[in-house]
Amino acid sequence: IQNNKQPIIMVGDCAEEFYHANASITKSKINFLDSISSIISSYSYDSILLARMAGQFAKPRSQKTETKNGITLPSYFGDMFNGKIFNECVRQIRAVRLLEAYDASCRIVNHVEACLQNCDKLTKDKLFFCHEAYNLFYDGSLTRKVNGIYYNLSTHMPWLGMRTVGSTSHVRFLSGIANPIGIKIGPLIDVQWLVQLLNTLNPLNEAGKIILITRLGYKEVHNVLPYLITTIQKYKMKVIWVCDPMHGNNEVTDNNFKTRHLDNILCEIQGTINVHFQNGSYMNGIHLETTYEDVTECTGGNVTNADLHRNYTSAVDPRLNPVQTNLVLKYYLNMLEAC
Ligand code: PEP
Ligand code: CO
Repeated sequence: IQNNKQPIIMVGDCAEEFYHANASITKSKINFLDSISSIISSYSYDSILLARMAGQFAKPRSQKTETKNGITLPSYFGDMFNGKIFNECVRQIRAVRLLEAYDASCRIVNHVEACLQNCDKLTKDKLFFCHEAYNLFYDGSLTRKVNGIYYNLSTHMPWLGMRTVGSTSHVRFLSGIANPIGIKIGPLIDVQWLVQLLNTLNPLNEAGKIILITRLGYKEVHNVLPYLITTIQKYKMKVIWVCDPMHGNNEVTDNNFKTRHLDNILCEIQGTINVHFQNGSYMNGIHLETTYEDVTECTGGNVTNADLHRNYTSAVDPRLNPVQTNLVLKYYLNMLEAC
């Protein structure tokens, strides 16, 4: 994971849904990941794929409630909490969904095992799962002691989302497990506070333990990232840097579609690589929200604003379709090659 020839590629849905947990959808997802692996190997890189999969069912939301036609209900917090349909019963938060999430995740993992046999480039040792460790009832209950050390066995790499980065219970849970941990970093991060957080989560300064996922937005990269990098360098903290060029570049269209423009995504990737380069640091990977389906959720490439209504199916955030994913991936790999 620390080899510069081995970029970390995080991809997948913003929110998985329970109905994804079947053989045919899993096959499509794995084929898509395999096509991503093929592109990466055509650049002679040996990637690590982290799929937002088999557990990405919990979503923190900025707004706790949603109002439509004068009716206010709880927001959709991911299938692990409640359902997406705007209906009083469906939006109720139900604990039984924890069991459904576990069942769905197990089914996905089992289907993945079978699908990997038909892959061209993707192999089991290159594919890992990740999800946001948001629902501690889920991640906590699947944490076990193995040879005297606690691991969150529900995933390989849990991450601390931007909305819970200051939550003592989430930080406390993550400080007790030996998994590698992702940390999402937004533009309002207090860098000194981040240093304390890293001391808590990685007191031995172990290499490969912390993956800092910056999602600053293309406008803020040059303002925020240099100080972040130089501070981490000053304290000699070992971290892996990944750029999430999606979550800082949300916009809402006049027709009320939450979207992201490809140009802004590319701009954040370019800015992030440049700032790392200028500061003697290195961007180790990229984090995208993607799907194998030909959706119209992000604009740019083969999607215009006028297309957004055509096939917008994401449960939460807008994802890149395969054409857009390939464009972004190749843009990143070309830059990497030039570094
Ligand atoms: C996400 O990755 O879907 C997400 C909610 O990210 P963030 O915490 O960075 O906003
Ligand atoms: Co998202």
